Amino acid sequence: METLARVQDPELGGNIVELGMVTDVRIDEGHVEVGLALTIAECPLRNHLEGETRRRIADLPGVEDASVRVTAMTKKQRAELMSTVRLKARDNATPTRVSPATRVIAVASGKGGVGKSSLSSNLAAALALAGHQVGILDADIWGFSIPRMLGVEGRLQADADTKLIEPLVAHDVRVVSTGSIIDSEETALMWRGPMLSKALEQFLTQVDWGELDYLVVDMPPGTGDVQMALARSLPQAEMLVVTTPQKAAQKVAVRVADMARRSHMPIVGVVENMSGEMFGSGGGAELAEDLGVPLLGSVPLDHAVVQGSDNGRPVVIDGTGPAAGSILAIRDRIAELMPPLRMETCSGRIAKLIAELEEGSAPASV
Ligand SMILES: Nc1ncnc2c1ncn2[C@@H]1O[C@H](COP(=O)(O)OP(=O)(O)O)[C@@H](O)[C@H]1O
Ligand SMILES: [Mg+2]
Repeated sequence: METLARVQDPELGGNIVELGMVTDVRIDEGHVEVGLALTIAECPLRNHLEGETRRRIADLPGVEDASVRVTAMTKKQRAELMSTVRLKARDNATPTRVSPATRVIAVASGKGGVGKSSLSSNLAAALALAGHQVGILDADIWGFSIPRMLGVEGRLQADADTKLIEPLVAHDVRVVSTGSIIDSEETALMWRGPMLSKALEQFLTQVDWGELDYLVVDMPPGTGDVQMALARSLPQAEMLVVTTPQKAAQKVAVRVADMARRSHMPIVGVVENMSGEMFGSGGGAELAEDLGVPLLGSVPLDHAVVQGSDNGRPVVIDGTGPAAGSILAIRDRIAELMPPLRMETCSGRIAKLIAELEEGSAPASV
């Protein structure tokens, strides 16, 4: 087993023993056979893993020949492997100021203009309305729109003693965006380069987020560096994929989801935005089915969303128009799928207490 533990899966970042890929080892005199369960039978790394395993075992003194029997993992084995990988990523991640108990929702889409920022700001405000501690991180460094949508003004400042950046607050949401550092999107474009590309990292390590139940991250469109960086530094992050009802939008959305899976970010579900007579509907449901994740809801095309964004007052605050209702329902669904961890432990404790009481001699009521 020690020898086998030297065989690394370069993609998952771990050795085949800790990743649970070694199913069995049979030794008959000088003949050794190792059973390897790979994530999928046509795993692109199959040759590498098989060859490495054979080579390492054959190198051992007393071994005449080594063979490897490859099988595909069961669903359950794969789920276990994924949680091992995520735990490892968490251990290796650079420390951030976002508590590991904070649920992180990365709102992503294949392309711009589908309503990521509108949904992010509304979802954050809706979660805060429900009494949760909420932060929003505008990770669309060059195309930020969160400050305008939530109506925050003013500039981010660092605390004189701690040197940590204090988030701005709007609608009970703690807000951090490059838009609150610089004056205009034109300036952002001029800053393109190392200064702003480090912004995300700084927002995670140098902002005093406090105890958050939820951190909503408004992702830049498409796949790329930001997605990878987020998966690396916030291993608890889960992706919410936004799509419009059209076919073309689904195709690009599949690509973001693929990327998420490659960086081991689970997908909490799909939201279809702008559904209705103009663009049709059903694209979100198809995408959700393709990805094997829940459709969290459909948000209709609704002018109140645009107005809310322009006025810095997300529609969920006043609850006017059909979109607000859908977004509130989506919020409830998310809170169900990703309950705040503090509440989870708390209700766990309460459940235990009740169970103990019920086991006790005295009936709870007469
Ligand atoms: N459900 C909706 N109904 C009507 N307009 C919407 C809806 N969702 C978003 N919009 C509008 O569409 C435009 C793009 O939305 P935005 O959230 O900025 O997209 P993204 O962040 O994906 O680029 C904005 O003008 C926004 O007000
Ligand atoms: Mg946006």
